[in-house]
Amino acid sequence: MNSKHQYVELNDGHFIPRLGFGTYKPQEVPNSKTIEATKIAIEAGFRHIDCAYAYQVEEEVGLAIRSKIADGTVKREDIFYTSKLWSTFHRPELVQSCLEKSLKKLNFDYVDLYLIHSPMELKPGEELFPKDENGKTIYDHVDLCAVWEAMEKCKDAGLAKSIGVSNFNRRQLEMILNKPGLKYKPVCNQVECHVYHNQRKLLDFCKSKDIVLVAYGALGTQRYKECVDQNSPVLLDDPVLCALAKKRKRSPALIALRYQLQRGVVVLAQSLKENEIKENIQVFDFELTEEDMKVLDGLNRNFCYVAMQFMSDHPNYPFADEY
Ligand SMILES: NC(=O)c1ccc[n+]([C@@H]2O[C@H](COP(=O)([O-])OP(=O)(O)OC[C@H]3O[C@@H](n4cnc5c(N)ncnc54)[C@H](OP(=O)(O)O)[C@@H]3O)[C@@H](O)[C@H]2O)c1
Repeated sequence: MNSKHQYVELNDGHFIPRLGFGTYKPQEVPNSKTIEATKIAIEAGFRHIDCAYAYQVEEEVGLAIRSKIADGTVKREDIFYTSKLWSTFHRPELVQSCLEKSLKKLNFDYVDLYLIHSPMELKPGEELFPKDENGKTIYDHVDLCAVWEAMEKCKDAGLAKSIGVSNFNRRQLEMILNKPGLKYKPVCNQVECHVYHNQRKLLDFCKSKDIVLVAYGALGTQRYKECVDQNSPVLLDDPVLCALAKKRKRSPALIALRYQLQRGVVVLAQSLKENEIKENIQVFDFELTEEDMKVLDGLNRNFCYVAMQFMSDHPNYPFADEY
């Protein structure tokens, strides 16, 4: 194990690095940027790489990882790679095919973690977001417990070492946990989590069930034009966060990441910039005091950047519940 890293044990006995490199990027940014950034991340010490079928960069991420294996920087077993089942593949007979498509692009035999990307299933087909003639996203109807059973089969087939979920609320997590004949519990729930939306209640629930909460958008998201309100507050410009950063002589980004680690959250950090990638790995080099943590807790306002409003009428829309 890389000494720079700290790991958390998952409920299935595998270990996940507490800091992960995010690979989502807007379509307009060339995919070649992802190859470069992923290589830099591995060289800097990142060992956990978060990706997904829907990000459409698995070929590039796979290339970068394999090149760092080929040059002796890492071995495959040093890397913790996450992929995600896209919502158009929720029908149980399609689940494994989505994972197989990812593996083929990656040129890997297995992923370390496979997540249900979202509880909101969409009509199967080529389009990531199938739309009708009026531009309305077309939903599908699949029992989430049946999707989970297909995920369990992927683990049994050795294609995924661990399985989990993403963007699930408490009720949806409980549905899986209470499923008759449950073979494997989800190891994690990956959700939006940052100082403006610290997910205290969901985090406490997950901890009580031995499920790790993985934070995305911990730096305030990339403010993707297609789904983030451009008038929303810029998290890394928050005056309280910036004042604390100044006091601790660290950047606001590092404070925002460190906050998550100290509350037992596994945290993702995205960047395509070498200086930022190298900075983010320094999250292990300092500590926040209890007082600092309280100050950061005080910033919570249950504000969601990626609320997926255009799907708010989906029967499984997860963000209408309190948590
Ligand atoms: N499961 C899901 O549904 C889901 C949804 C969203 C994201 N994710 C995953 O979570 C990952 C992270 O979330 P995210 O991509 O929204 O973004 P994020 O990690 O919150 O990062 C947002 C932005 O912060 C800036 N940044 C990074 N390091 C910095 C530093 N040291 N100093 C100053 N600014 C810094 C970068 O912007 P600049 O480059 O402009 O400086 C970056 O684009 C994704 O890449 C993806 O893997 C999952």
